[in-house]
Amino acid sequence: MTDETIYGHEDTLKMLDALFREEGEWWDQFYADKNKGIPFFKDQPDENLVEYFDTGCITPGKTLELGCGGGRNAVYLAKQGCSVDAADISRAAIDWGTDRAATHQVKVNFSCCSIFELELEPASYDLIYDSGCLHHIYPHRRASYLELVDRMLKPGGYFGLTCFAAGSMGAEITDWEVYRQRSMRGGLGYTEEKLKTIFSGLELIRFRRMRETAPGEELFGEAFLWTALFRKKAV
Ligand SMILES: C[S@@+](CC[C@H](N)C(=O)[O-])C[C@H]1O[C@@H](n2cnc3c(N)ncnc32)[C@H](O)[C@@H]1O
Repeated sequence: MTDETIYGHEDTLKMLDALFREEGEWWDQFYADKNKGIPFFKDQPDENLVEYFDTGCITPGKTLELGCGGGRNAVYLAKQGCSVDAADISRAAIDWGTDRAATHQVKVNFSCCSIFELELEPASYDLIYDSGCLHHIYPHRRASYLELVDRMLKPGGYFGLTCFAAGSMGAEITDWEVYRQRSMRGGLGYTEEKLKTIFSGLELIRFRRMRETAPGEELFGEAFLWTALFRKKAV
C-alpha cells in the first residue's frame, strides 16, 4: 500500500503504473480459455530460438525467460539442457507453464511476479530471453528493463528478443501518446531503428523478421515479429 507520496524514482514509476490497467488480472483473463486459437498458445518454441541452438550460436547454460506465458520456450530451453528460471505476472500463465513442464518431465523454476520484482543473482545468466513481453512494457519501465537485462547477464551472455514489428503489428504511437491515451492499445510496434537504438549498449549478433512457419512444422513463427539476438560485451 502506498500513501501516494513520491519520495524517489521507484515511487514515480509506481505512480505511472497505476495510471494503467492491472496487468496480472488482465493477463489472467487472457489465459482463461486456452483453446481460443491464439498462435502462441500452441506448445511450440520460437523458430529463431531453435535456430540459435541448432546452429550452435547458443549453447545450454543458465537461462532466464521474461514474460514466459504458458512456458512453451522455457520448456524447450529446459529440454536443451539449460537450467531455466522463468517469470510471468499472470498466475494463470505460470500454472499453465508448471503443468507443461510436468508433462514434458523437465524442471523449470517459475516465478509469478512482475519482472521488475525478480530477486535473482546478478551477472549469473548465459541467456535472457523475451518472446513478446517487451512490447507490453510501459515506456516508463523501459530503462528498468534495460537495467535488468544488463545486471543479470554474465559478461558475454546473450539476450534474445521477439517483438512486434511496427507497420505489421502493434500500436504506432509515440511514448508520450501512451500517457495521453493511458493505453498502449494492445502493445507497441517497434521499428528496427528504435530497437537497435534501445539495445545499443549490447553487441548486435542477429536481427531479422521471424520466419512464418508452415503448419506441421511444430515451431512458432509469425512474420509480424522482429527477432533479435544481442550479446553483453565480455570484459
Ligand atoms: C504476448 S505474451 C507472451 C507469452 C510467452 N512469452 C509466449 O510467447 O508464449 C506476453 C506475456 O508477458 C507477460 N507480462 C507482461 N508484463 C509483464 C511484467 N511486467 N512482468 C512479467 N510478465 C509480464 C504477460 O503476462 C504475458 O504472459
